[in-house]
Amino acid sequence: MKLLVVGSGGREHALVWKLTAGRNGDKIYCAPGNAGISALAECVDIDAEDIDSLATFARERRIDLTVVGPERALIHGIVDEFERRGLPIFGPSAAAARLEGSKAFADGLMEKYGVASAKFAVFDRADEARRYVESVGAPIVVKADGDAAGKGVVVAQQVEQALEAIEQTMVERIHGDAGSRVVIEECLVGPECSIKVFTDGAHVVPMVPSQDHKRALDGDRGPNTGGMGCYASVPAVDADLFDQIITGLIEPTIDAMAQEGTPYKGVLYGGLILTDDGPKMLEYNCRFGDPESQVVLPLLESDLADILLATAEGGLEEYDVQWSDRKCVCVVMASGGYPGSYENGLPISGADEVAAQEDVVVFHAGTAHRNGKLVTNGGRVLGVTALGDTFDEAIRRAYAAVDCIHFDGAHFRRDIGSRALA
Ligand code: AMP
Ligand code: GLY
Repeated sequence: MKLLVVGSGGREHALVWKLTAGRNGDKIYCAPGNAGISALAECVDIDAEDIDSLATFARERRIDLTVVGPERALIHGIVDEFERRGLPIFGPSAAAARLEGSKAFADGLMEKYGVASAKFAVFDRADEARRYVESVGAPIVVKADGDAAGKGVVVAQQVEQALEAIEQTMVERIHGDAGSRVVIEECLVGPECSIKVFTDGAHVVPMVPSQDHKRALDGDRGPNTGGMGCYASVPAVDADLFDQIITGLIEPTIDAMAQEGTPYKGVLYGGLILTDDGPKMLEYNCRFGDPESQVVLPLLESDLADILLATAEGGLEEYDVQWSDRKCVCVVMASGGYPGSYENGLPISGADEVAAQEDVVVFHAGTAHRNGKLVTNGGRVLGVTALGDTFDEAIRRAYAAVDCIHFDGAHFRRDIGSRALA
């Protein structure tokens, strides 16, 4: 089989790594990939958002399946374009990817079909949004409606903070057109978790639950990031709760999308909050999580390519997908300054040596080769991942590996996985 993975981060490295494992004879391409991925796949210099060039490449190379990592190409219709050209691809159509691409669409769908979520209101005018915030008070959540690269949400503890968020989003347009409309939500309280499933539009195959650590600093302080690390499975999500989330929130979402005439295929990622009134949906993502894929895929015992094909082309209901009950922890090593500005091109040492250790995998998120040397090339640089029979063991192994890897200014959290121990 010939496979094309689209993207260049730790998630895509984990996908390529899992697709390579235990199979012979497959040819894997990654566009554009990174230094770590280039050891396993042939990297092609095509931007992950260049839908036309990706489709042309897939046709010329007769790719059997394309798998898309990042959301932007999905939201912009890469699946529709590939299907129009008769090219097999894994992921939701643009209409289905609105679950991530428009918060107003997602909230509206949940309301219409009774999927438990926050109360919300949608505004196209800043003055009306301000008046609403003043009338309901804080805490309150202000969200840019569109694709704001994961940065469009402000959880405001005070009315002033919410008003400032409206100003920045709708008037200053710090997220561009994504902020021409805002969604204002009731602030829900409780521990968060996320559930990802494979779905062919009718059937749902859940992945093991995973949890990321979004804030930059230990103890969940500091600014939000793309994710500083994560762990799987999640002890806080027991079998009952898991079942309640799948049958009460995820399956009704898939059914709703089918009823709307826009069936959802691919990975659906539900971000949830476990409130005193039960689990509620905070948001959807239309793709694998990053860094969550780096802890979920190492626990997958079934063949990933088979699952992806069945999801895209039918037959998913026949699959008995197997997961390991070991524990997995991923510590993200980021560039100094991330999530703010940072320097690229700094030499990295120790990564290859560590990757040779048993039960350790070093996924590259932002790396490149320069003059034959491995260097930093992004905010999140490496996802240092370890397996163990217990969380204690996985955490110790991951940090022992982190301590062997060096680059100037490397920044990482010391408490990844600690919530799984609590
Ligand atoms: P996002 O950037 O869309 O991943 O959302 C970022 C974070 O905002 C979520 O992980 C939650 O911590 C928080 N959040 C979003 N919506 C709500 C809500 N209605 N109530 C409380 N927190 C929220
Ligand atoms: N780790 C969060 C995400 O993939 O959106």
